[in-house]
Amino acid sequence: KENIVVLGIETSCDETAAAVVRDGKEILSNVVASQIESHRRFGGVVPELASRHHVEQITIVIEEAMKQAAVTFEDIDAVAVTEGPGLVGALLVGVNAAKALAFSRNIPLVGVHHIAGHIYANRLITDFTFPLLSLVVSGGHTELVYMEKHGSFKVIGETRDDAAGEAYDKVARTLNLPYPGGPHIDRLAQEGTATIDLPRAWLEEDSYDFSFSGLKSAVINTLHNAEQRGEKISPENLAASFQASVVEVLTEKTIRAAKELGVKQVLLAGGVAANKGLRKSLESAFERIEHVDLVIPPLYLCTDNAAMIAAAGTVLFEVGIRGALDMNAHPGLDI
Ligand code: KG4
Ligand code: ZN
Repeated sequence: KENIVVLGIETSCDETAAAVVRDGKEILSNVVASQIESHRRFGGVVPELASRHHVEQITIVIEEAMKQAAVTFEDIDAVAVTEGPGLVGALLVGVNAAKALAFSRNIPLVGVHHIAGHIYANRLITDFTFPLLSLVVSGGHTELVYMEKHGSFKVIGETRDDAAGEAYDKVARTLNLPYPGGPHIDRLAQEGTATIDLPRAWLEEDSYDFSFSGLKSAVINTLHNAEQRGEKISPENLAASFQASVVEVLTEKTIRAAKELGVKQVLLAGGVAANKGLRKSLESAFERIEHVDLVIPPLYLCTDNAAMIAAAGTVLFEVGIRGALDMNAHPGLDI
């Protein structure tokens, strides 16, 4: 069927989001209500607060997405919702809103994995060319995902401890920067030089896994040691050095996996995909590799949104996947 219109709903963390997408590619609306301001004074996302905000916002956000897309529920072919992973209380708000709509309006329901959503954000700007590789870097995930066809995800590497975004946020916190710290570190890094020697966790030679907790500790130790000696460390240079380590490992492992797996396309995805250093590094690295198309999504599609959930949900809907009305939230869902 042509012209499949899907309503997407995303509430896995601290953004209440709804979007309407046509044919999995064309954004008709993309509404995101961010709770960042509420969580900031706690230095991170407070799960209970997140759930309550979602409850307050969800109906308004869905109505706004429908209004901006100029569609009615008659036009909606499916409701796609993030069923996991994420904060269970937060996920439940989206899942229940989606189930209520599906039941009351008799619309098919599709459950979407949050990471599949991040990957499919790229389909809103380009067609997929298989086989492809996606580097997913967010606050909760750092994964290399191999895809042979639509809807098929093989995780070939993942973080063994902190996610990249989590490391960014923790380092930012030790530098007294506001939550979420990623964008602040990124900005500082542009103003500094990577003069401080920090570790790179390559792990085993053939591994595509990542590890960022050692790097995070090294940054914290560097700060503390300097403090004890009464020395001052330039936050710009420290941020630049931290970012250089993260970006170098992410770029090298992605390049090696892309070559070894012979992929035709590489997709960057997740909140950390907004990082200027990472975008630049991948761009220049892939310039030298022929026959691989590097796709970097615009900033508004990197961080959490519901257009990406609708885009992934459309593909699942097209192959006949349907969620049941007893769908639950799955905080630790595997892709
Ligand atoms: O994908 P996302 O919105 O939520 C999760 O699914 O986790 O990612 C949020 C993460 C946060 O850790 C935030 O600090 C990080 O993405 N982030 C960045 C940048 N913008 C957002 N990290 C580094 N540089 C950035 N420019
Ligand atoms: Zn996310």
